[in-house]
Amino acid sequence: MTDEDRTIHDSTADSFLRRIFDRVPVGFYRTTPDGKIVHANLALARMLGYESVEELKKRDLEFEGYEPSCPRADFKRRIEKEGTIHGLDARWQRTDGTFIDVREYADIVRDEKGEVLFYDGAVEDITSFKRTEESLTQSELRYRRDYAMFRLMADNMQDMLWAKDLNTRYIFANRAVCEKLLNASDTDEPTGKIDIFFADRERAAHPEDPEWHTFGEICEDSDSVVMQSRKSGQFDEYGNAQGQFMFLDVHKAPLFDEDGKLLGTVGSARIVSREKELESEQRLSQKALEEAFASLRSTQESTLRVMAKLVETRDPYTAGHQERVARLAAAIALGLDLDDEKREGLRVAALVHDIGKLRVPVEILSKPGSLASIEMDLIREHPQAGFEILSEIPYPWPVEEIIRQHHERIDGSGYPRGLRGDEILIEARIIAVADVVEAMSADRPYRPALGIEVALDEIRKGSGSLYDPDVAAVCCDLFESGRFGF
Ligand SMILES: [Fe+2]
Repeated sequence: MTDEDRTIHDSTADSFLRRIFDRVPVGFYRTTPDGKIVHANLALARMLGYESVEELKKRDLEFEGYEPSCPRADFKRRIEKEGTIHGLDARWQRTDGTFIDVREYADIVRDEKGEVLFYDGAVEDITSFKRTEESLTQSELRYRRDYAMFRLMADNMQDMLWAKDLNTRYIFANRAVCEKLLNASDTDEPTGKIDIFFADRERAAHPEDPEWHTFGEICEDSDSVVMQSRKSGQFDEYGNAQGQFMFLDVHKAPLFDEDGKLLGTVGSARIVSREKELESEQRLSQKALEEAFASLRSTQESTLRVMAKLVETRDPYTAGHQERVARLAAAIALGLDLDDEKREGLRVAALVHDIGKLRVPVEILSKPGSLASIEMDLIREHPQAGFEILSEIPYPWPVEEIIRQHHERIDGSGYPRGLRGDEILIEARIIAVADVVEAMSADRPYRPALGIEVALDEIRKGSGSLYDPDVAAVCCDLFESGRFGF
């Protein structure tokens, strides 16, 4: 290589380095101990807000450019003592008065006698890095504060609260779950452990009582249920803990990370043993009440039948009459869609509808042939007599009123009061029809049985005048369709 070649080569290399020197986003400088900037690259000038290196060089570092908390004196002291600086954070002032965070790397340059000539350094602008770091510190602080608050709240509530990972190991447990269920030494102890660890430890500590701790073994594995379904749910869990029976109302939910990946479960539980006890006591007393009511019903039922029999012993021709009327009346009521309450009242009333005949002399009741008008009058008193007898008994249905009305006719021609149409209870209108049909189709002291056809003809003929037309229609239909027979 000739000298000329070398000159060209050197100048090419020099301009190459110069270009790199100006373009890298790192500031380079050479300064003197007394604060003069000897060399600098464009990157450094721009970092500090200058348009050119020349302008930057006018800065006197002895008097300007540093934030008071990190003066140049610190830098000088350190580099002269150590000879090199590898990463010194400082804050430098820009031309607009704002500060940037920088990290400096520098070496000292001395002459043969050891006197300091220059400081050669490289500078990174770490402002945005610092900001990120600060905001991270801030959010870390906030997280710690929030967690401390959450922990305080969780530990001060009566309900149990926890979180578990995919392997059902505790991630979090509040004081209530540690004290009431796990018997853990503190709220950190459950972390990384599963329920069985504590169950086994409890049992081992009480070998004299195999029932000391049974919790978590009787009930379904609700952690798996929640993780498999990925849905929250309510679970009834129970068993013994610390020798005491405990019933828990448990709520669990799947725990996901921000990308929707399943991490485990969270849960809460409230001890509801007392509520459950009350509930079962309530159920028991409800059952006792139902049994008492049922026995009352059966007593009442037998009383009814005794009363019905009583009438029939006095009037042998009407044996079974009331029972059959009750059956037909019940079938009609069903066909008319009467509600349960009305149907039950009707059944009871029909079973004893002639109870008033207890007050009619036996001779009249069993007399064959036709009756004198005075005898007829006595018989016609039986609905009112029935009303009086039964008004002594407190029924939940208007039994006595139904009985009083069972000989009324809708055109007002009936007795004892000559009521019309809707003035007559529907139950009484039904018994009226059933009574006539049964009476005509059976033997009577004064005549032989007329047969069901004659009875139904009578009903059809009287429908709308004597008998309720709806009741009459349903009654005839029951027989005609073969759905009912005595
Ligand atoms: Fe009657």
